Amino acid sequence: METDLSGKTAVITGSTAGVGYKIAEFLALAGANVVINGRKTLAVEGAVERLALAAPQVSVSGVVSDVGTAKGVDELLAKQPRTDILINNVGIYESEDFFDISDEKWMHYFEVIVMSGIRLSRAYLPGMISRYWGRVIFISSEWALNIPTHMIPYGLTKSAVLSLTQGLANRVQATGVTVNAILLGPVQSVQGMAGGQKELCLTMEETVALYENEHHLSTLAFPHAATTEEVANTVLYLSSPLAQGNSGTLIHLDGSEHVTLPRGSAPPH
Ligand SMILES: NC(=O)c1ccc[n+]([C@@H]2O[C@H](COP(=O)([O-])OP(=O)(O)OC[C@H]3O[C@@H](n4cnc5c(N)ncnc54)[C@H](OP(=O)(O)O)[C@@H]3O)[C@@H](O)[C@H]2O)c1
Repeated sequence: METDLSGKTAVITGSTAGVGYKIAEFLALAGANVVINGRKTLAVEGAVERLALAAPQVSVSGVVSDVGTAKGVDELLAKQPRTDILINNVGIYESEDFFDISDEKWMHYFEVIVMSGIRLSRAYLPGMISRYWGRVIFISSEWALNIPTHMIPYGLTKSAVLSLTQGLANRVQATGVTVNAILLGPVQSVQGMAGGQKELCLTMEETVALYENEHHLSTLAFPHAATTEEVANTVLYLSSPLAQGNSGTLIHLDGSEHVTLPRGSAPPH
């Protein structure tokens, strides 16, 4: 199956690195004109330059703005007032005990993870509806359903994103626009594996092995930390014309983290 997104425009929040950059790359290679976003000018310029080289047939532009604020979203909208595909990828996470988290920190999580998606969807969806085609995809997390004790604001806001996905999918039903979410488990990205890499001074391969074999995924029957390519491929599918029937869908991409099979269970053949 080849996905042709020629003529479409995609905005990907938080896309100078990690999952967001890989999504931008996959969409660009499928023919979409892409808009990269991040807060740091140099990072945005660097990502635009890299991607323009990798996908010379499409337009690659960048907008420097903090989409975790209303002002930053307005700046993005002023520079890019329309899109056919909106990937609400931006996310923040930090390990912190519930009793130490201030009101300000709670509101920050809400602004970055939930309000960015609300503000951008509110602005872009009417145009998509008027053109009878559009895609909105939220990058959520398995921790939206299995709230980690050390990251409750992350779990709570990623959970709110799932409600938003389903509410918006209902709201735009039968308009040619679809709204979906992907629930990621740990990803083999710098950020996803930051704990192992920074704290234990391990290589990416060692960190992934630690994650898969000893740490977070040790109870899984089929441990697997997804690659950024796997994530981007799932986004590409949901962005494609062939995914017209998928809306309000919550896709798990977590190496079966959400499935409660006992450790070591063999799959039925
Ligand atoms: N990685 C994982 O293991 C994992 C697991 C489950 C879910 N997820 C979800 O997947 C998504 C991507 O994760 P990731 O690990 O790729 O993230 P990441 O590496 O932390 O993403 C960094 C990107 O986000 C940008 N960014 C951060 N805050 C921003 C803001 N307020 N406004 C605009 N850009 C901002 C950064 O650029 P600047 O620094 O220049 O702003 C950079 O481009 C997130 O929603 C995350 O919650 C990730």
